[in-house]
Amino acid sequence: MSDPKEWMADIASQHEGSYVELYEKVYAAVARGEGEVPWAEVAERHEWLREWAAEQQLDGTGKKAVVVGCGYGADAEFVASLGYETTAFDISPTAIELAKRQHPDSPVHYTVANVLEPPAEWSQAFDLVVEIVTVQALPRSLRRQVIDAIGGFVAPDGRLLVINNKQEEPFTDGDFGPWPLTRAELDSFTTSGLTEVRVQDRPSEEAPPTRRWQAEFRR
Ligand SMILES: C[S@@+](CC[C@H](N)C(=O)[O-])C[C@H]1O[C@@H](n2cnc3c(N)ncnc32)[C@H](O)[C@@H]1O
Repeated sequence: MSDPKEWMADIASQHEGSYVELYEKVYAAVARGEGEVPWAEVAERHEWLREWAAEQQLDGTGKKAVVVGCGYGADAEFVASLGYETTAFDISPTAIELAKRQHPDSPVHYTVANVLEPPAEWSQAFDLVVEIVTVQALPRSLRRQVIDAIGGFVAPDGRLLVINNKQEEPFTDGDFGPWPLTRAELDSFTTSGLTEVRVQDRPSEEAPPTRRWQAEFRR
């Protein structure tokens, strides 16, 4: 099997529709056994979520959480294990199908949804919102809309954890993603009424060398 990053870049370079359609195209190809998504491996960012949850002593009993762009659901399963009534969504119906298949007895409510057109009932509905590298997976032209939508999920007194790659500046965007977040873009989560609690600029040990934002916001 080819390198997942090259495989995905190849599909993206031939894709003519929107980014919303691209992700389903990629997961559908995975389901046909043609390749694997580059983000499928157990990665450092998932460990950072676990470390943060332990540090914060998160107890989700009686609370609700949502995991954005959940893919195969590893983070959603972890969040549910903390006691949260967990919703996890992805734009790709095939990703959601694969997540359900991988976690047949899961308490997580896996559902297909577009972060750009979220259900109205998700507005300020979640005590915990987990956003890991979905914002950077969508073009910068959609950033304002995506960030506002994710921030809008946070309930009063709720919290949002964001882990996304850091965009070093100055920069020029390439044709294909990911499009990491500038500090100003990260800070713009506050425009949906959130307060920035802590921002960390963390070195990644993964190759190629990158830095990631790990940021917590509250309403
Ligand atoms: C880079 S992957 C990250 C997956 C997972 N969060 C992780 O950390 O491994 C981005 C995910 O967001 C999903 N996605 C892309 N656009 C989306 C949209 N408009 N609404 C919801 N999910 C989307 C993709 O299908 C994909 O599963």
